[in-house]
Amino acid sequence: KPLPFGQLRTNHMFLMNYSEGEWRNPRIVPYGPIPLSPGAMCLHYGQTLFEGVKGFKHDDGEIYTFRADQNAERLNHSADILCMPQIPVDLQLDALHRLIDVERDWCPSMPQSSLYVRPFMFATEDALGVRPSREYIYCIMLSPSGAYYSGGFSKAIRLLVTQKYHRAVSGGTGTSKTGGNYVASLKPAEYAHSFNAAQVLYLSADNSTIEEVGSMNHYHVLKDGTFIIPEFNDTILRSVTSLSVLELGDAGVIKARQEVIRIADFLEGIQNGEIVEAGGFGTAAVVSPVGEYVFEDGSVIKLNDGKVGEHSKKLYELY
Ligand code: COI
Repeated sequence: KPLPFGQLRTNHMFLMNYSEGEWRNPRIVPYGPIPLSPGAMCLHYGQTLFEGVKGFKHDDGEIYTFRADQNAERLNHSADILCMPQIPVDLQLDALHRLIDVERDWCPSMPQSSLYVRPFMFATEDALGVRPSREYIYCIMLSPSGAYYSGGFSKAIRLLVTQKYHRAVSGGTGTSKTGGNYVASLKPAEYAHSFNAAQVLYLSADNSTIEEVGSMNHYHVLKDGTFIIPEFNDTILRSVTSLSVLELGDAGVIKARQEVIRIADFLEGIQNGEIVEAGGFGTAAVVSPVGEYVFEDGSVIKLNDGKVGEHSKKLYELY
C-alpha cells in the first residue's frame, strides 16, 4: 500500500516563541497539542504562514533536504507580506536539521516517498484589534509521505479550466504561503471534483492568462522539449521546484523559460501540436503531469493522449 501524503507524524516537533521583539526558547519536544488562548489572533484574522520542504534518504544513508534555504527565504517573504517577524535563515535551517536528526529513522526510502517537512508560524497574542500580533509560535513538524496525488507520478491528472474562481488579485497576498490562500482553494476544488478533475487551473482575474494551480505552478512543454512556466507576478506563488527547473534551463541541462501565457494561445498550441505535454511543479506535487483539461461546458481537451509524456518523465527522473 502506498504511503499517504501528510497523514503520518513523527514523535517530535520543533517549537520556538516570539515575544517582545525576539525569538526565544528554541526546543524539540514530543509531538502534541499546543495550548492557545481563544483570543489568539491566528484564530480570528488568519495571521498564519507555512512552508513545505522535502528530505530524501540517499544511498549513503544520509538525509538530504531539497533546497531548504530557498524555502526559509520564502518564509521570510511571506512573513513580510503578513506583518509577521522574520526568522534568520540560519536559525530556520539549524532547527530543521536538528529535528530531522532526532527523527532520522522516520525518513522513508521507497520510490516517490520523502520526509515532508512542514514549518509554520502563527499569531498567538490574545487581542481582538485588527493589527499585527506581538506574539508568535514557530513550529516544525514532520510527515513521512508518499505522492501528493494518489495516482503518483505515473497517472496524469485532469484540471478544470474555470472562469468562476480566481486565486489571488494583484496587490493581495498571492505570493505568500498563508492559510487564507489555501482555504480559498477548497470551494474551487469541490467544483473541480464535480467535473472529475483533481484541481482547477486558475486564470488571471480578467480570465486572459494562465496563473497557477494552487497546490502547484503550471507548466507546458513545446514540441522541441522546452518547458514553459508562467511569468511570475504578484498573484503566483514562486515554487522552489519551478525555480530549480528554470535554473536547470539557465545551466543548459534542459530547455526552460518563463512567459506570459494567454489561455487562448495555450489551447491553440495544443490543437495545432505545438504544445505536447503539460503539468504542475511544486514541493508536494514534485512534477505532476496533466493529461486532460475540462471546461465549464463539459468539453475536454487531451494532451499526449491523456498519458504522462517523455519530457515530463525525463525531468522527473532528473529530480
Ligand atoms: C507544497 O508543499 O508544495 C505545498 O504547497 C503544500 C501543498 C500540500 C499544497
